[in-house]
Amino acid sequence: MNDTRRILLIEGHPDPGAERLNHALVEAYAAGAAAAGHEVRRIAVGTLDFPVLRTAEAWHHGALPPGLQVAQDGMAWAEHVVIFFPLWLGDMPALLKAFLEQVARPGFAVGPEGPKPFGRKPLSGRSARVVVTMGMPALAYRWYFRAHSVKALERNILGFVGFAPIHETLIGSVDGLGTAGVGRWRKKMHTLGEQAA
Ligand SMILES: Cc1cc2nc3c(=O)[nH]c(=O)nc-3n(C[C@H](O)[C@H](O)[C@H](O)COP(=O)(O)O)c2cc1C
Repeated sequence: MNDTRRILLIEGHPDPGAERLNHALVEAYAAGAAAAGHEVRRIAVGTLDFPVLRTAEAWHHGALPPGLQVAQDGMAWAEHVVIFFPLWLGDMPALLKAFLEQVARPGFAVGPEGPKPFGRKPLSGRSARVVVTMGMPALAYRWYFRAHSVKALERNILGFVGFAPIHETLIGSVDGLGTAGVGRWRKKMHTLGEQAA
């Protein structure tokens, strides 16, 4: 039996620089996945050139910006999608939201126009993980802020278009991690990559 999976890694940080924690986490996950024989594709949102979606008309009928075809192709190809991003003002960075608005077009991520435009879930059959880094302790985000923005992504976006199951990793107090702390999270990402989880 072949238990390798096709994994798409989306680095949602607007700054794809190597010094960013998010970049290190993506690298570690990708290395673990590759070591276990999984197929991996990567998209760094911060390196893509695309405009912000401005009208419903463009969403329904406009052409996908050419720079984002790779993202739709990657999602169609993948069995498991992992989205990494830093918490910015309590939510995903605006560039990642702009990316998702552009990519999740009718006919691709939601049903085409018609009496029940949201009746079908075209991306069903794929699992997902959301990895979020933040300055505050992860427990504060989870219990005081109720993890509202991560829940919105998981339920209103990923779940809405068919992803299931969806898991999450919240990495808090990032400023105090130090080399050892970063190393522990890299190891954890490597293991998740091996498991394609
Ligand atoms: C514009 C901006 C907004 C931020 N907003 C928050 C926030 O609302 N809550 C929080 O806990 N951390 C916040 N942070 C801290 C980032 O989440 C943290 O620096 C990031 O997760 C570290 O990962 P990186 O090295 O990949 O950038 C913010 C940082 C920036 C630059």
